[in-house]
Order: sequence, then C-alpha cells, then structure tokens
Amino acid sequence: MDRRRFVKLCAGSAAWLAAGMRDARAGSYTDFPKVRLTGAQGVPLKASALANDEAYVFHFPFRSLPCFLINLGKPASGPQELTAESGSYTWHGGVGKDKSLVAYVAVCTHQLAYTAKRGSEIRYAAGNSAVAGKPGMIVCCAHNSVFDPATGAQRLSGEARDPLLPVRLEYDSANDALYASGLAGTQLVERFFNTYKRELISEYGPGVYKEPVGNTAAAVPLSKYAASTGNC
Ligand code: FES
Repeated sequence: MDRRRFVKLCAGSAAWLAAGMRDARAGSYTDFPKVRLTGAQGVPLKASALANDEAYVFHFPFRSLPCFLINLGKPASGPQELTAESGSYTWHGGVGKDKSLVAYVAVCTHQLAYTAKRGSEIRYAAGNSAVAGKPGMIVCCAHNSVFDPATGAQRLSGEARDPLLPVRLEYDSANDALYASGLAGTQLVERFFNTYKRELISEYGPGVYKEPVGNTAAAVPLSKYAASTGNC
C-alpha cells in the first residue's frame, strides 16, 4: 500500500469497511507502511534483547491502537488458517532468530477491553494465571477469556469467540531489527475507534488518534506502560 492510499484509508470509515471486505475475500493481511520498533528512548530495538516475562506495548499502525509484542521464549510455529470477523487469514508463526516473537492487537475481540495507560484488563501472563491454569497465555480479565499466543492467539476459553488480531512482524536478521507491517483485517479496528471515540479523543486529541504512528514505534514493557493490569 502506498502512502497516498494509506492516508485515504485513514480518512473515513467507508474506506475502512471496503478494505475489510477486500481482506475477507482475499483472505490476506492489510498492508500498512512499515514501522520500525524501538525502545522507550527511540533507540532501535534489538530483537534478541527482548525479555520473555511480560508483553511490550507498542502502537501500530495508528497512534492510539495498542499492540502486544511478546517473546514466548520458545518457537511459535505456523502456518495456521484462522477465522475472525474480517474473514479468514493465515497466521505465519513467530519471527526472530528463534521464531519466538509474536504480536497482536491488544484489544479483546469480545467486548474490546484494551490496553491503556490508566490500566489494562488484557495482559500476557508468562507465568501461571488463575483463569488460564497454565503459563504463557494472554488473558482478558474483563470476562475471563484466554488466548494462546503460540497458536495465533486462538481463544481457548471464556466469553471471546475470535482470536486476537495478529500484527505482521518482519525480522531483519542483519540488524536484529523488528518491523510491523500489517494487520489481519481492519474490522476490529473500526469497531474499536467507533466504541472508544470519546476516550481516544480525550487522550490523543481530535483526529490524532487515527493518525499513522510514523516510521517508528516505541515498545514499552506493559508493567511500565499501564498503571494497573487485570488480576485473573
Ligand atoms: S472484553 Fe475481554 S473477555 Fe470480555
């Protein structure tokens, strides 16, 4: 997708919905301009330096859309054919030297609980959690849903039905660098914007919340980003 089409896509929900329908027919990802992931200070992130005890929060492809970057500490092998509200898509597994790095939009597919600075009901539980009963799961404590990040964030239990929305990551082995470049559909994003318009305007400013994030996005540990996290 070139920049002109990207800006047009940001301009209105009709374009968003059209893109989502095309995605469903093609069964593919929606491309966005490639964004390099950095640390909190803007220094390019080294993939091999990512800890595996919690998720990192970054925003992509829009300034207000939170995503999780997770080092599972073990390979996550694809491909898997999955279905969500935008249609079917192929989740290709983890990237990085050990194929252990995955990313998902940090918005629950049930009732859109999401990661914000004021708090996050959704989190990655590297250790055991009461609701998951096993380690290494993403849990949404709003209504106790459990997603497995090693299998495309498929829903294992709870109120949610669909998997979390995958972010396409690209790994540059020469520089140990990570980039985000696409989403497996856009309908969840449209729903997120419509549902939280007032909150997002208040936090980011009118129009700003839908702006592209730019060439880089900072990835910050969830414990440093959110004032509190769900405990389930
Ligand atoms: S919003 Fe996440 S389980 Fe209901």
